[in-house]
Amino acid sequence: MSSSLFSDAVLAWYDQHGRKDLPWQHAMTPYRVWVSEIMLQQTQVATVIPYFERFMQALPDVGALAAATPDEVLHLWTGLGYYSRARNLHKSAQRVVEDYAGDFPRDLEQLVSLPGIGRSTAGAIASLSMGLRAPILDGNVKRVLARYHAVAGWPGEKAVHDRLWLIAERYTPHSRVHHYTQAMMDLGATLCTRSKPSCLVCPLQSGCEARMLGQPTQYPHAKPRKQIPVRQCLMPLLMNPDGDVWLQRRPDSGLWGGLWCPPQLDDQLQLQSLLAQQGWEAEEPQLLEPLRHTFSHFHLDIQPLLVRVTAGHGVAEAGQVWYNLRQPSRLGLAAPVKKLLSRAELTI
Ligand code: ADE
Repeated sequence: MSSSLFSDAVLAWYDQHGRKDLPWQHAMTPYRVWVSEIMLQQTQVATVIPYFERFMQALPDVGALAAATPDEVLHLWTGLGYYSRARNLHKSAQRVVEDYAGDFPRDLEQLVSLPGIGRSTAGAIASLSMGLRAPILDGNVKRVLARYHAVAGWPGEKAVHDRLWLIAERYTPHSRVHHYTQAMMDLGATLCTRSKPSCLVCPLQSGCEARMLGQPTQYPHAKPRKQIPVRQCLMPLLMNPDGDVWLQRRPDSGLWGGLWCPPQLDDQLQLQSLLAQQGWEAEEPQLLEPLRHTFSHFHLDIQPLLVRVTAGHGVAEAGQVWYNLRQPSRLGLAAPVKKLLSRAELTI
């Protein structure tokens, strides 16, 4: 889609569905937009509204903020969290008063040089309150653009971030830029949501590559997971002559707490001791296809073994069961155990 078709579609949607009644959209000044943008950085709109109104009542302009005590500013921020935002707001207000005679600079670089103002916040201030053609790229807009162009990679990576900025730049229109900026934020917040996008009513649906791929929620890609360690275990499926498999109930706390599981062993030696302890005769263990299960903090590589044992008819102690694969009892099973047992069913 050409850039004007893109922005026309976004603007037409804004005219019908965009938010037009947020408190910072009234009497829009750089000061009001700036304070609201900083408040909205880590906080939802509904939470921000009463804070914004109190803040504006107490400190209606940049001069009042610059002259306030740090305690007063932090007091007005209490409950919003991320207090460095409030400290930076205070410092920036003093800079605007001292360096720019109380008028926000109409220049992105100068805005970005103020404490706590990044490139996207500068873009929002410039476009929303000054009508300057400046792109924004906050979390919502990143999601819309990464989906529209199916941009691969995690936006925290420089190359991906740079590409998204280029796209943001390209689509920012020359006219009605303040509506366009608000519309992009609103699209991301209300339609192009992280886990349940409403593609059917989206003005960008016809050109959206992520949608065409059938995978809108795959974009933007998630932060790559840290390397996590790999642990290994043997998991013998001890099968009696009836084809039942021996399971133990795991302790309530710890991994798979309270679920039923075959023994989880370090090596063959432990298998031999278990068999000796139970007094079971066993055939030579048969290696089954290995399985990886990933927990939040490690991978568990499971080597399952099929071990046919000649004893253990149906009777088991508390916390143990001979699990009938064909008529399974209603027990809690961990996902990989369920998989192994359904594979084992094929062998009986
Ligand atoms: N989030 C960040 N800026 C916003 C704005 N101007 N309106 C609504 N949500 C926002």
